[in-house]
Amino acid sequence: MIDIEMVAPSIDEVRRIAIVGTGVIGSGWAAVFAARGYEVTAYVRSRDSELKFQRFLASAWRKIVVRGLAKDPEGWRKVGCVRTIAECVASADYVQESVVEELPLKQAILAEIDEHAPAGVFVGSSTSYIPLSLCRARVRRHPERIAIAHPTLPQWDSFVEVLGATPAHTAWLAELFGPAGVGMEDVIRMRKECHGHVHNAVLNATVTAATGLVRAGMCSPEEMDRALTHM
Ligand SMILES: NC(=O)c1ccc[n+]([C@@H]2O[C@H](COP(=O)([O-])OP(=O)(O)OC[C@H]3O[C@@H](n4cnc5c(N)ncnc54)[C@H](O)[C@@H]3O)[C@@H](O)[C@H]2O)c1
Repeated sequence: MIDIEMVAPSIDEVRRIAIVGTGVIGSGWAAVFAARGYEVTAYVRSRDSELKFQRFLASAWRKIVVRGLAKDPEGWRKVGCVRTIAECVASADYVQESVVEELPLKQAILAEIDEHAPAGVFVGSSTSYIPLSLCRARVRRHPERIAIAHPTLPQWDSFVEVLGATPAHTAWLAELFGPAGVGMEDVIRMRKECHGHVHNAVLNATVTAATGLVRAGMCSPEEMDRALTHM
């Protein structure tokens, strides 16, 4: 097993970002990384997916420009597209995976990324709920480089929670997403894996409690909404 701490690039050496999964979250990531000056390449499965990705990306970019995080209105056009995962990740310094939230599919895609990405490259998954050990379960070469990098939507609201295989890996990811790298403001370093990580575990507990209280006749749904907006 490769000691990734020995071979991972330092944060200022990270230039090329691979995006695998180009829906709402993948296109948001592509925009956020490109706005910080990274060279971004996305994997798209077909011409249709490419056009859809470009629509999402252009829309995300407009919002990023309004926020003052990028200046060039056409800057999103620098993001490249390729048709295989192998090509997308082969020369990446970091890979962000954001395919649909289905365990077997995510495991297969993460295993494929691992087959083709250089050994010292971390792979962060945007998964909303899947614990790290399940993400890594089918990865053969370097399972230790698989990590969680879960954002909230939209990413330019600047929240991400990260977890790597060791505290040093988690620290590397926190540095990447923090001021020296992607520039996100609220970067949570998780210490343990958990279904839903920190953010969605708390969100689920809140929704479960609120639903239970409304069903028990404590208050109306409208009143619960009002109470929640004051949290
Ligand atoms: N939507 C949110 O609010 C949100 C927030 C944080 C994290 N996430 C997580 O981000 C990830 C992506 O969510 P999303 O909302 O962007 O979903 P989405 O449906 O918008 O995008 C999913 C992407 O997966 C790709 N995909 C589907 N099947 C595939 C396959 N067989 N091979 C390769 N690619 C395939 C699709 O082409 C699409 O690009 C999920 O893990 C989700 O839990 C979502």
